[in-house]
This record gives sequence, structure tokens and C-alpha cells, in this order.
Amino acid sequence: MQNKEIITKITEVSGISELSDIEQELVQNALDSAKKSYAPYSNFHVGASLLLENGKIINGNNQENAAYPSGLCAERVALFYASAQYPDVNIKTLVITALNKNGLTPEPVYPCGSCRQVMIENESKLKNSIKLILVGERSIHILENTSQLLPMGFDKSVLLGKPEE
Ligand code: THU
Repeated sequence: MQNKEIITKITEVSGISELSDIEQELVQNALDSAKKSYAPYSNFHVGASLLLENGKIINGNNQENAAYPSGLCAERVALFYASAQYPDVNIKTLVITALNKNGLTPEPVYPCGSCRQVMIENESKLKNSIKLILVGERSIHILENTSQLLPMGFDKSVLLGKPEE
């Protein structure tokens, strides 16, 4: 018998002053975007801001629908837009913020499983790590890539075989 252990590395910082200037700009973008989300059913407003390697910033927010499953999370709105407009450009950083009725959530909000799946697809497609910054009022969590959030995930190597080194 063999046991395997999976480690997720999370860096916690206490405020946005510990982030770089461009990361602080992304946080502001994510907050502004969250305020513009269409979330009349949950009243939970999520904003995602992406920095591309070409310097472009792309924002997304959650888009709900009376037919609930037709809505989409903030992260996938931003990720799919980035992939549609700049299919070959690496995503360097992804910032996520969420506002409930009291404002920014006290703790960072982690992305849902479907968004994690889309993140790992992007990482494997472009062979690139996306730095994830999850912003809460009391603390900020930083991860150096998104695949750590979906260990043992299903990716294209299962369908296409492992890429040659
Ligand atoms: N939501 C996101 O936008 N991102 C997540 O990672 C989790 C949930 C949205 C979907 C829905 O509009 C609302 O938050 C409540 O689930």
C-alpha cells in the first residue's frame, strides 16, 4: 500500500499594501467589476480581474439569470473573454473579490469547482501558471498556480496523452 499526500501552498498577507502596484490595481478593478455584476437573485457580487502578459487587464463579474443554471461566475466570464480575445496570451494573475450585503467578504472567497476546471484548462493550454490572489477584508490568500486548487484534476493529457518533454 502507498499513501500519497497533496500539498496546497497558500501565502496569507493581511492587506493590499503588501501587494505590488499592479496587483493593487487589479484588486481595484475586481472591486469595481463586482459592483457592476448582475446578481439580483443571490445578491452576492463577485469580481474577477485578470492581468495578461501583454499588459491588458480584463475584468469579469457574475451574470445571473432567472433560469438559474444559465448564469455564469465572474471568473469564467473573465477567463472566457480573455481566451476569446487573446487566445495565445498568457494570463499572469487573477484577482477575485466578492461583496455580500455588508461589503467585501471578511475572508477570501475561493473559486467554485467549475471555475477551477476552466483555470487549469488555461494553464495546461498555454503551459503557464496563473497566480491567484483572493481578497477578503481581513486577509488575502495568494497561490502561485491554480492547478493546486484542483488536485487530481481532469485535463487534456487524459484525452490526448501526455505531451512529449
Ligand atoms: N460565484 C462566482 O461568481 N464565482 C465563484 O467562484 C462562486 C460563485 C457567483 C455565482 C452566483 O452568481 C453567486 O456567486 C452565488 O453563488
